[in-house]
Amino acid sequence: MRGPLAKATILSRLRESPGYVSGERLSAEIGISRPGVWKHIENLRAEGYRIDALPRVGYRLLSSPDLLVPAEILPRLRTKLIGRRILHFDSVASTNDAAKELAMKGAAEGTVVVAETQGAGRGRLGRPWVSPRGGIYFSVVLRPKLPPTEVAKVTLTMAVSIAAAIRQTTGVAVTIKWPNDILFGERKIVGILTEMAAEADSVGFAVVGIGMNANTQPADYPVAMRSGLTTLAAELEGPVDRVALFAACLEEIDRDWARLAEGGLDDVFDDWRSMSSTLATRVRVSTVAGAFEGVAKGIDTNGALVVEDDGGEVRTFASGEVEHLRPA
Ligand code: BTN
Repeated sequence: MRGPLAKATILSRLRESPGYVSGERLSAEIGISRPGVWKHIENLRAEGYRIDALPRVGYRLLSSPDLLVPAEILPRLRTKLIGRRILHFDSVASTNDAAKELAMKGAAEGTVVVAETQGAGRGRLGRPWVSPRGGIYFSVVLRPKLPPTEVAKVTLTMAVSIAAAIRQTTGVAVTIKWPNDILFGERKIVGILTEMAAEADSVGFAVVGIGMNANTQPADYPVAMRSGLTTLAAELEGPVDRVALFAACLEEIDRDWARLAEGGLDDVFDDWRSMSSTLATRVRVSTVAGAFEGVAKGIDTNGALVVEDDGGEVRTFASGEVEHLRPA
């Protein structure tokens, strides 16, 4: 059995067994020497697995690292497309940049890049995305069969997937602010940045980057940002299972991406509406052309936001910065 597979097999045998697993059994099953088994155990320990070794008895898994490594994620994943290949970095400048580079070299749809921290994380409108350890930062390579004018559908779909994953896994009742910020109350918990390489009439690839304030605390962010954000750990007054949450995100993206591909956009948009805190709210939408204030009435078939002002004028926004003012 080859190195990575042997290591993964040792890990799953240790996981399955509540007691000790003998080195001899592992060695026979995998077809490597006892010192070979020991080398893999040492490698796993170096990755943060705590493994007890008892002479003449064997090995026992005491705990797994709180890291978003493929060895932790893949055994839980039942996806068809998303996350079949996961690249994990302890630290990277930006997972979106790493994913774009892979996509340009032809990486398969569904490839995921994830990092424990980012040195130069990017947000929308050229803003930095502060990425302390404990958060979840990942990017997914997608190859949408859509014209560039319809990429908003991808963005809204991703927000549905992530909000659903958070609700299911943590019970925190997050909402979606148009187009794809995820909030708790009025404070932001997740930001999503979609970037694409497009020809005139087709999208070569899209990279969707997700930054989630999971096991971080508001104090981990610059003072000026703190009033506008919150974290899952702060709201729950305790840590979340990042591995379970990340796996749930990939599963929801897998499901929604398939729904979209099968023509289920209406269902995805219905989910978006049901989790949105923007609809029926008084909003100010700012674009390069200026600001427009009114009540958010809905989203159109492309995911653009429809707003009606007090004089009855209705405008549709494909992009823009939204501020929630107060309920209508
Ligand atoms: C926003 O401004 O709301 C979007 C933030 C997107 C941040 C994520 S973190 C993972 C990925 N890598 C980046 O550099 N940005 C995105």
